[in-house]
Amino acid sequence: MGALSFGESFNSLEDAKLVNAVDGIMAAGKSMGIWLNLPAFGKNQILFKIRPFLRWLIFSAQDVKNFQNYLDVVVGMATRRIEREHSSGRDEKVQSSLDKDIFHYILHSKDPETGESLTTSELLAEARACVFAGTDTTATALACSFYYLGYNPEILAKLRGELRAIFASEEEIIYGPKLKACMYLKRVIEEVLRISNPVGGILWRETTTEYYCIGGYRLPKETDVGVPIYAIHHNSDYFPNPHEFNPDRWDDAVVGAESVTAARKAWMPFQYGSRACTGRSLALMELNLTLARIIFSHEIRIDQSRRTDVQVCIDGANPEFETKDQLAAETVGPYLQFRKVAT
Ligand code: HEM
Repeated sequence: MGALSFGESFNSLEDAKLVNAVDGIMAAGKSMGIWLNLPAFGKNQILFKIRPFLRWLIFSAQDVKNFQNYLDVVVGMATRRIEREHSSGRDEKVQSSLDKDIFHYILHSKDPETGESLTTSELLAEARACVFAGTDTTATALACSFYYLGYNPEILAKLRGELRAIFASEEEIIYGPKLKACMYLKRVIEEVLRISNPVGGILWRETTTEYYCIGGYRLPKETDVGVPIYAIHHNSDYFPNPHEFNPDRWDDAVVGAESVTAARKAWMPFQYGSRACTGRSLALMELNLTLARIIFSHEIRIDQSRRTDVQVCIDGANPEFETKDQLAAETVGPYLQFRKVAT
């Protein structure tokens, strides 16, 4: 996301400060998860303004430090990016490299009504949103994918079989028509985003008209409403046996077109409407590419010494990968071992 957003890599494998910034993203999620679920907070300007102080009351000193570290890293990258934009002048080569990142579009966006550009503080808020929304979510989806593939060797084998039937080498796997033709890969990803969606909690919306009617209830204006995505994704009216990881539930030929249509209507890992995820296509591209390339050429097995650490079994039969709701899900593990195999 560093390169995509600001044209500068996080270098997180080399820079120790950046390793802590990952913990910082988790701390940011925890912080936002609490604020978003406190109605009094959103409507009270004073509480909102003093939130940096409240953090000290609610979080551990380490969490606050990690959070500050994350802010410093993102603000530093965004500030350098803004400076590069202004200093590039008429140098076409520099300008064309800047044209390709997400911040280019944010910097050049204008309010359609007033024609005004974003202020510096708005730009920094966009930078924080981009990094938070675009990193941890996809990383969680990948962790969940590897958990379910590691624990379901027959699904893993079927997926690898599909990839090897379509591609001759790992290098050949790029985002394009051939990858899009991998229907089983698509179903695995849909099922992962259903069963362990990286954003599983309530995303509050406010009613804007008098006596808004939802599910037979009449709600007055300015009522906060929401249903956790996790609850919708585990409703057996749409997803029979909802705690079972079953990519075939997305296959017309196995469960019938009616069942797939009902499931599709309730599937909302990226939300719907005007505030839905703007990074949906990017996220799906990242998931398709990363999974395809790793599965194509790696064996995966569970680290038996730690296997139960990461599970939760709700229906008594199908253990799920545990995701804790704090806006973006917090996960631990999974603990897996990967081995490169000859292709
Ligand atoms: C599997 C990965 C992802 C999932 C499950 C996901 C899910 C979501 C959800 C549910 C929302 C709506 C939040 C709300 O209603 O308050 C959202 C918003 C957003 N997402 Fe994603 N996201 C993912 C990846 C990404 C990526 C890669 C980006 C890249 C930039 C991104 C950028 C955003 C942004 C900017 C918003 C805020 C949109 C707005 O408020 O207008 N997301 N995401």
